[in-house]
Amino acid sequence: MALTATLVVLASGSGSNLQAILDACERGELDAVVSLVVVNRRSSFAAQRAAAQGIATHCAPLDPYRQRFDDRAAARAAYDADLAAEVAAFSPDLVVLAGWMHLFSMAFLGKFPNQVVNLHPALPGTFPGAHAIDEAWAEHESRGLAHTGVMVHLVPDEGVDDGPVIVAEEIPINSDDTRESLEARIRSVEHRVFPAAIAQLLES
Ligand code: GAR
Repeated sequence: MALTATLVVLASGSGSNLQAILDACERGELDAVVSLVVVNRRSSFAAQRAAAQGIATHCAPLDPYRQRFDDRAAARAAYDADLAAEVAAFSPDLVVLAGWMHLFSMAFLGKFPNQVVNLHPALPGTFPGAHAIDEAWAEHESRGLAHTGVMVHLVPDEGVDDGPVIVAEEIPINSDDTRESLEARIRSVEHRVFPAAIAQLLES
C-alpha cells in the first residue's frame, strides 16, 4: 500500500498497545495514522491516550443495547451493526483490536473482510479468551508449562482469538518468573510485535 494507511483502533483496557502503535507511527516505522479510537468501557485509559494526541474517540458501551433487547444475540447484532457503521465512516484500511474485550459477530466482521486484526497474549490455538496470561501461569505452576507467547492474527469470523496468523512469537516462562514479570515480558513483546505485524499486513 503506497499511501499512508488509516487505522481505527478498538481497545477496552489501558491501551498500552494503542500507545505502541501511535509511537511506531510517530517514529515512521508504521506508515499509518490512527483516525479513531473506540473504547467500550468509560474507564478505559486508551481513550485518554487518544485524546492526549488529538485523536477522535468514541465510547461504545454494550449496556444500552442489552437494555433495549431481551435477546442477547439480537443486542449484540444491533450493537455490532451500529459500531460497524461508525467505524466504516472513517474508511479504515485496517480495524485494529488492541485489547478489545468484546466478541464481534458477523454483523461487524462482515463489513471488514480481511481488515480486522487482533492481538492475543498466547500462541495460536492456546488459551483463547480474556484470561490467557492467567491460564498460562496456572499451567506453568501446575504442570510446568515452559513457554507461552503472543500472536497477531486476522479475524475472519466469530472464532475466539483464532484466524490466519500474521506473526506469532514464543516467550519462555523462566523459573524465577512471577505472574507479574511474565505479564510485563509479554506486554513488551506485544509492543514490538504488534506494530511490526500491522506494517507487514499493510505492505502485503
Ligand atoms: C494485551 O495483552 C492483549 O494481547 C490482550 O489484552 C491486552 C491489552 O493490553 N488481548 C486479549 O487478551 C484478547 N483476547 P493494553 O490495554 O495494555 O494494550
